Amino acid sequence: MSELFKDNDADISIIRTKKVCIVGYGSQGRAQALNLLESGVNIKVALRSSSKVKSRAVEEGISVDDIEPAIEWADVIVPLIPDASMPALFNSKEITSVKSSKTFVFAHGYAVHYETIKISEMHRVVLVAPSAPGKALRNEFKVGSGVPGLFSSERDDRELALSYCKAIGLTRRGVVETTFKEEVETDLFGEQVVLTGGIPKLIQTAYDVMVDAGYDSKVSWLVACYEVKNIVDLFFMSTFDSMYSSISDTAEYGSYISGDKIFNDAVKNQFKEILESIQSGKFKDRMSSLSYNQDLESFRHKYKNLGVDKAGASIIEKLKS
Ligand SMILES: NC(=O)c1ccc[n+]([C@@H]2O[C@H](COP(=O)([O-])OP(=O)(O)OC[C@H]3O[C@@H](n4cnc5c(N)ncnc54)[C@H](OP(=O)(O)O)[C@@H]3O)[C@@H](O)[C@H]2O)c1
Repeated sequence: MSELFKDNDADISIIRTKKVCIVGYGSQGRAQALNLLESGVNIKVALRSSSKVKSRAVEEGISVDDIEPAIEWADVIVPLIPDASMPALFNSKEITSVKSSKTFVFAHGYAVHYETIKISEMHRVVLVAPSAPGKALRNEFKVGSGVPGLFSSERDDRELALSYCKAIGLTRRGVVETTFKEEVETDLFGEQVVLTGGIPKLIQTAYDVMVDAGYDSKVSWLVACYEVKNIVDLFFMSTFDSMYSSISDTAEYGSYISGDKIFNDAVKNQFKEILESIQSGKFKDRMSSLSYNQDLESFRHKYKNLGVDKAGASIIEKLKS
């Protein structure tokens, strides 16, 4: 089993001697920029002139610059922009005209692994992938903790990658060494079948079945959606075994029977098909197709105003007060 690298395995002084340019101030960009700043790293955030987040970044104490000068200034460039936007950035004059050798740090290996971008051999390329959304990365750091993550240094700079992990708080929990291929394929698979594909769809479907059967929408939301967090907390940083021992015998018995019925061989085969589409590049081709933006918008439209969300919205504020 692979090793878990902690704070003691990383030397933060390496990244403190570098000039670091973060491109973008979105979910990861904001969290990583603020964590680096508080770790004593010399950073700049590079934004497009049209960016609407410039004033927020400045208010939060960040030095902001245009993309070209910030990239020229930096030793380390961290593109924290959507994966589908990487080709536009990497084909731009700002990056293609860089003459000196730099290190590129990616938070996800997508663009490098699927070669949607080309990075000149004179540059070093590493991966530092937090296992959490930007908000959690920032919030955990602020309370002196961190989130775990993955790192890879297939094109040199392993010590710098570990140093960067430490500066954004990942080694407070621990990081595992991986490859770009493994990070990309497992990350896409995990989010599609479990985290953001499977779990929400499971909740939405269960809610719809209950409401269609005539049950009250608030009751159905409480059962299918609200209670999820309490159950996740029972196995988070623990085991399913301990979760089963904390629930009632009725819940446990029903879980085994229905769990096996839902997640049968047909579902497992679908999971395998999804993994294969990620490994073969079929999913990447769909994301790179001309219809990607239109596709994404129509999915967004379809998933707006779901019944389960309306039921949640009708009760959440009252539950909070
Ligand atoms: N979201 C997560 O929590 C998460 C977790 C782990 C890894 N990652 C990885 O982290 C990276 C960043 O993801 P994200 O979700 O943080 O991105 P994001 O929030 O969607 O990034 C938004 C930022 O990207 C900038 N941007 C977009 N296109 C650009 C372009 N062509 N040139 C320059 N700037 C551009 C935007 O600029 P404007 O201000 O001008 O609009 C904005 O500041 C991705 O590789 C992703 O896979 C994300």
